[in-house]
Amino acid sequence: MKTDSRLLPDGRGVGPLSWGCWRLVTDDVFEARRRMETALSLGMNMIDTADVYGLDWGGTSFGLSETIIGRVLAQSPGLREELVLATKGGIDPGVPYDSSPAYLESAIDASLTRLGVERIDLWYVHRPDMLTHPADVADTLAGLVAKGKLAAIGVSNHTVAQVDALMAHLRAEVPVAANQVEFSAAHLSPLRDGTLDQCMRDQRMAVAWSPLGGGRLTAAGADPGEPEGTEAALIAVLDELAASRGVSRAVILVAFVLAHPCAPVVVIGTQNTDRMADLAGAAEVSLSRAECYRIIEASEGVPLP
Ligand SMILES: NC(=O)c1ccc[n+]([C@@H]2O[C@H](COP(=O)([O-])OP(=O)(O)OC[C@H]3O[C@@H](n4cnc5c(N)ncnc54)[C@H](OP(=O)(O)O)[C@@H]3O)[C@@H](O)[C@H]2O)c1
Repeated sequence: MKTDSRLLPDGRGVGPLSWGCWRLVTDDVFEARRRMETALSLGMNMIDTADVYGLDWGGTSFGLSETIIGRVLAQSPGLREELVLATKGGIDPGVPYDSSPAYLESAIDASLTRLGVERIDLWYVHRPDMLTHPADVADTLAGLVAKGKLAAIGVSNHTVAQVDALMAHLRAEVPVAANQVEFSAAHLSPLRDGTLDQCMRDQRMAVAWSPLGGGRLTAAGADPGEPEGTEAALIAVLDELAASRGVSRAVILVAFVLAHPCAPVVVIGTQNTDRMADLAGAAEVSLSRAECYRIIEASEGVPLP
């Protein structure tokens, strides 16, 4: 029987859209709070960050995004209970991946300190560390759940086999609650690599990052002569569907991801509150089967067999 995959193990519900803080690199706490409050008011109750966010997009340091979120929560403590706080760790720039027990424990303690909270609602292994045995990752994370530091655990950018390997070492009480992967009209691999099927099999929350292709798909076509080829065909289909409904191309892109039967949570990355409000409308846009397949065919540049 199909169950609600937008529920965390503790029963907390997550909205279909989540606000991503990869590009949250401001040190203006009032501005960061305005963005977070806008996201929450639009039903984006899961706030997605990572310890490594802050090293690009003009940011200056590891931990910057978590630090500014922590400052917002310190300024407005009431927000804490309204949001599902999701963060990630296991990327150690220069190493680059470390999921060893000692590293994860210290990284999670550091995230808790930066965020100024006692518990992280959903903590992900950001990228798989090929040099740590999944039993060690499982024991570490289950131990941190038992200590109350993590309410739920997830993985990001893991293959189906990597998720299975981790699950084999976890007890049913501490499931892999979410898998966060890149999924958009420009990045369709999860449709066929088993990721979304595995989420549906296990009733795991599927979380999709970069639904607009990181902004590439919304920017495409802005300059005369651009884009060309397959991407131009995709943009043409998206714009036709957008015009037919009187919505933006970005809304169609988010609606396309939301149309998958795994009922994904879509992590949007805009830092512009008007665009957040625009994208929130995607939850009301229902694309037909034929329209979704048109997007897939246009993206792949070949008809489906
Ligand atoms: N797990 C992982 O490995 C991983 C990797 C990447 C991202 N993520 C998560 O996913 C989140 C979203 O990623 P993303 O930022 O690449 O997502 P995205 O929503 O695909 O792209 C957002 C970018 O598009 C721009 N944009 C241009 N036109 C837009 C429009 N009409 N509407 C909205 N945005 C528009 C935004 O600029 P403005 O800000 O100027 O609007 C922003 O730079 C991240 O914040 C992070 O939380 C996770």
